[in-house]
Amino acid sequence: MTLSPTYARYPVEFVSGSGCVLQDSDGNEYLDFLSGIAVNNVGHCHPRVVEAIREQAGRLIHVSNLFTTSENVSLAARLVELSFGVNVFFCNSGAEANEAALKLVRKFRSRGEIVVVHGAFHGRTYGALSATPQESKQAPFAPLVPGFRVVPPLVDAIAGAVSEDTAAVLLEPIQGETGVNIVPDEVLVAAREACDAVGAALVFDEVQTGMGRTGTLWAYEQTPVVPDAMTLAKGLAGGVPMGALVMGPRVADVFAPGDHGSTFAGGPLASAAAHAALDVIDDEALLASVRELGARLMAGLERLPAVESVRGRGLMVAAELTRDDAPDLARRALLEQRLIVNATGPTTLRFLPPLIVSPPEIDDALSRLSRLLS
Ligand SMILES: Cc1ncc(COP(=O)(O)O)c(C=O)c1O
Repeated sequence: MTLSPTYARYPVEFVSGSGCVLQDSDGNEYLDFLSGIAVNNVGHCHPRVVEAIREQAGRLIHVSNLFTTSENVSLAARLVELSFGVNVFFCNSGAEANEAALKLVRKFRSRGEIVVVHGAFHGRTYGALSATPQESKQAPFAPLVPGFRVVPPLVDAIAGAVSEDTAAVLLEPIQGETGVNIVPDEVLVAAREACDAVGAALVFDEVQTGMGRTGTLWAYEQTPVVPDAMTLAKGLAGGVPMGALVMGPRVADVFAPGDHGSTFAGGPLASAAAHAALDVIDDEALLASVRELGARLMAGLERLPAVESVRGRGLMVAAELTRDDAPDLARRALLEQRLIVNATGPTTLRFLPPLIVSPPEIDDALSRLSRLLS
């Protein structure tokens, strides 16, 4: 094995995929309820995405950001039209989108502190890692970027942490990597009000919650709060790497030529794929089905043995177990039941199926889990 051992990989090699099903090198089929960690929201090899990539690859793949392309400009316009945004900075991943957001808010306020919350995950690059208050991820890489203040995601804690020295509050509306923890509306409102009181920016990390995952195109739409900026990646381009920072009216004029950049970002190939992914997901019938199937999945999980409680929104769901072997269960689900899920901690299983999943596939996943847990 010549891959760097940064991941403890499972002994399964996938060779093809279609919809919610992946096939391994021995021809076995697996039901995918993880979607490449919330990336394959339109399913594997959605014909619309495949066709868009094929067509674009035969015409123009890359030109750099010294030029515009119609794919890139029209995608930015589409994201703006579908959100609170005024303009968009493209990049290639979630961590990069958050790096852009961190630079944006520091320049916006010309001062330092960025308030983040316990349980957050914003990525592995230095700025994003410094905003990710998890001892095991941060400690080996000290010293980190200074200027982050960590508080619990509670009304008083956030209100008390925001001051004249605050550049921004950065939050995931639903924390994904630490177990689908929904930040309560009152906490989001407190963050909005505290930022407004001092002129700081409120940034939502929608890298995992965006692109229809929670049953609306963006998770903030189901909260009483509109942020000043949001970061996107994961499902944005149907499986092709792409990230974005969407900037609303308060911060849209902050970046000037030379402030930030990226060679590959927003290239025509990724932009064409993102258009195709949006063609599929920006559809009220599909989003309604995400909400309905999420409810079906949660109700089914609640009936399973060893499930203590279930939480989630749309098709971003976690089950809290009465046992503490969730990582082993996820492994056995893969190897024994051919069901792909993952564990976000010793007692938590997470479910992120493609948004095009069908009711029978939800029921099939529940049967496989029932067999595993019985
Ligand atoms: C909320 C959130 N932000 C940022 C990231 C980092 O994204 P990437 O791995 O594309 O850098 C992730 C990845 O899991 C995430 O869930």
